[in-house]
Amino acid sequence: MATTKTKAVTKSKTTTKTTTAKTTVSKKQCDLSVLHVSPEFSPLAKIGGLADVAGTLPLAELDLGVDARAMLPAWPGVKEKVEKLGKLEKKPLGTLYIALNARVCEITVLKATLKGLTIYLLDNEEFFGNKAVYPTENNARTVEPFVLMSYAAFELPKVTGFEPQILHVHDWPSAFIPCALQYHKHYSKLRSKYKVVFTIHNMAHQGLFAPDCIPEWGFDWSSFAWGQDETLEYWGLVNLMKGALNYSDAITTVSPSYRQEIATSQYGYGLEGVINKNAHKVFGILNGIDYSVWGSSTDKTIPASFNTRSFKGKEKCKQAICEQFGFSNPSLPLAVYIGRLVDQKGVGLLAEALKQTDGVMNTLIIGSGNDYYQGLISDYVDNSSYAQKFFGFNEELAHVAYAGADMLLMPSLFEPCGLSQIIACSYATLPLVRATGGLRDTVIDAQDENGNGFVFYNVCANDLADTIRRATETYKNKAYWKKLMLNAKNADFSWKVSATKYTDLYKSLLN
Ligand code: GLC
Repeated sequence: MATTKTKAVTKSKTTTKTTTAKTTVSKKQCDLSVLHVSPEFSPLAKIGGLADVAGTLPLAELDLGVDARAMLPAWPGVKEKVEKLGKLEKKPLGTLYIALNARVCEITVLKATLKGLTIYLLDNEEFFGNKAVYPTENNARTVEPFVLMSYAAFELPKVTGFEPQILHVHDWPSAFIPCALQYHKHYSKLRSKYKVVFTIHNMAHQGLFAPDCIPEWGFDWSSFAWGQDETLEYWGLVNLMKGALNYSDAITTVSPSYRQEIATSQYGYGLEGVINKNAHKVFGILNGIDYSVWGSSTDKTIPASFNTRSFKGKEKCKQAICEQFGFSNPSLPLAVYIGRLVDQKGVGLLAEALKQTDGVMNTLIIGSGNDYYQGLISDYVDNSSYAQKFFGFNEELAHVAYAGADMLLMPSLFEPCGLSQIIACSYATLPLVRATGGLRDTVIDAQDENGNGFVFYNVCANDLADTIRRATETYKNKAYWKKLMLNAKNADFSWKVSATKYTDLYKSLLN
């Protein structure tokens, strides 16, 4: 694998970081219309980074004059949240009738507005009203909410009058859209009406189902022709991601390096061949973050704000965290891990490396995940005087931790983009990462004059431990550390550049 890194773009003084749309886009500007379909949408329904992207990219597109809108199921709490944060029209726009597994499902469409963005909420108590976004197990029954969400995109114009040219669909739960345009008995007739952009946020989750789902979904059996690169068949199962790769007009993934990685057997999870066959239409576009939510000078949730002129506020944030978690030696560097405790995130490496380096820094681990990794972390934390844990997720705590920490630990085994390291930079907290995917594209090692963090390469706990030691040694050189902080803070990862790339892609598909 190549070891060269893309340099983080340094923002010019005039760059504006805010991606929030101030007004609803006027009709005149809209020669491009896009509907985003995603199971997650921040801040209404958030499980992971997908929500942040689905919730902010459309806003950045609105800023560029695109008529971008979004659609998502009214999962539990969504209607209440939108009423609190935006506007929810009481009167439904209408009812959609969708055929699924030999019955007709009725879905009420509600219109909401959030930061100027029009959002269509799909309301149906049976399918969306009492469910977590993702089921604990994928099967014919538990996938039904995602099938309905996807087919609703085709029915939506009947009640909204909004006819998008582009359907921008995210991850396998919305992959039914490109698959149905190819294989559904009725929806395949709509193929020429839309251009479909499919964004891979994580190649590890592909949506695998037993073939008896095929007639239930209304697909033709030709979709399951064995041993064909082009169909949905994958080792005897139906693979929705495979179908989306084959039948979308363009495929994007969330960083340029991950684009390269998924073409290899190490990161392609069995679909590297399909990626390579479709290479002409696969693009890597780096995610951005919303600086109006994650900005050290505007964040209302942190004890003190700060900017590049003075980091005094950051010291107060650190003090607050050290007091809250009882770190008795606050002069040590403070490292945080903020994320899910799962395989992908390299938690095994982390637990081992922290044991090896115990005492060189204070460490706070925030997140939840599987029992095995929680156990590994507990084993370390319970036997250390330098570590604390918070199993769970608390948005406010995350803000303070990003702001108050000196370093963010992110030793991911793979990372399509990763948002935590970008958020950390915004608070002048230096990311310590493994060079993979979006981490490779956003973090430059401290040895480089543009350095904004620390990078190691091999999936190896000793290498991570060495890098932790190197970082804590560097911390002792205050002037150099400050230079790294300034580099981190000055890197511009706002959505503007990436949203422009998506918009150019939409235009190229329509021409
Ligand atoms: C997934 C990926 C993460 C990415 C996010 C948003 O959660 O694991 O790397 O940042 O999607 O695209």
